Amino acid sequence: MVTQQFVAAPARAALFLVMTVNEGSEEVVRDVFADLSSITRSVSFRVPGDQLNCVLGLGAGLWDRMFDLPRPRGLHPFVPLDGPRHSAPSTPGDLLLHVRAHHMDVCFELSRQVMDRLRGHAVVVDETHGFKYFDERDLLGFVDGTENPEGDAAPAAVLIADEDPDYAGGSYVIVQKYRHDLEAWGALPVEEQERAIGRSKLEDVEMPDAVKPINSHVHLNTVVDADGVQRQILRDNMPFGELGTAEFGTYFIGYAADPGVIEQMLRNMFLGSPPGNTDRILDFSTAHTGTLFFTPALDFLDDVPGPRAGASADDAPADTAPVAAAPGHSAPSDAKATDLG
Ligand code: HEM
Repeated sequence: MVTQQFVAAPARAALFLVMTVNEGSEEVVRDVFADLSSITRSVSFRVPGDQLNCVLGLGAGLWDRMFDLPRPRGLHPFVPLDGPRHSAPSTPGDLLLHVRAHHMDVCFELSRQVMDRLRGHAVVVDETHGFKYFDERDLLGFVDGTENPEGDAAPAAVLIADEDPDYAGGSYVIVQKYRHDLEAWGALPVEEQERAIGRSKLEDVEMPDAVKPINSHVHLNTVVDADGVQRQILRDNMPFGELGTAEFGTYFIGYAADPGVIEQMLRNMFLGSPPGNTDRILDFSTAHTGTLFFTPALDFLDDVPGPRAGASADDAPADTAPVAAAPGHSAPSDAKATDLG
């Protein structure tokens, strides 16, 4: 069983749930935090070797409602971007559940048990079931994840350390649901597609800098600090799709100790670097959601801090209370909002 492990071996299946939490349901959520380890353990024990892993994230608004503690330094609502050609919307989300395993039934079972506890208290604003495609490829046909940090570099990129000691061992995560125009993408010659990504399609080899276009995805996502050191994030993207509706997409999920690194990448992609030089893959991929979460370390969840002064368990509605999205938490028009009541 692994809960809140941000750095893990590649999974074959993942379930992503983004939820809003109803006003007054904060104590129910606090109980779920405290029990997440044991719920995960009981599912995982039945399927040893399936590498079940569950990460829970909290949005800035829910943090303020639940805790009297200062916010983790990087926790704020996702900043929307409006570029010359493409936009990255900011969409609601109080809770993220990122469940990964080798098989979808295992992801589904854990998510179902968690959702049973949240029934009547949360609204699912997006649910995505992702699968690993052949050769670790995305639905654009390219190998996705190659340049993720490995070994000691992975926790260094992902885990909060001395810069925010109260939340050390936690991380930040940004999710975005992208839909691809596969017809338009498929009409490009492979050489053009390779120039959009910055790597070869079949062998997944990075182009030399001299030939890699400056609007390629890889070029715009190579971010270096003032000392010339590359800043890294950990991506765990998953393809998803529906054949009947011809919906094909990539669920982007990126973890970082400093969400500013991911935000810099997003500005490069959507606003352009230099300004106007936007990421070529966005001509074929549209972001439909965007949310930022803090993912606390496991000991924070196991020993979750108490409620805000003045809040009491009596504030929570009964399990049978009618379900309504919290005020100001309307679901994005294209996201599937599921009433759990
Ligand atoms: C690299 C696909 C969105 C950050 C890559 C690669 C592919 C890819 C195929 C090359 C192989 C690899 O190193 O993984 C996609 C798709 C996306 C998407 C299909 C959504 C439509 C994003 C977003 C970010 C991002 C939103 C950041 C905010 C990166 C980074 C690299 C990368 C940091 C590695 C760059 C390097 O050091 O070579 N992506 N990506 N990607 N992507 Fe994405």
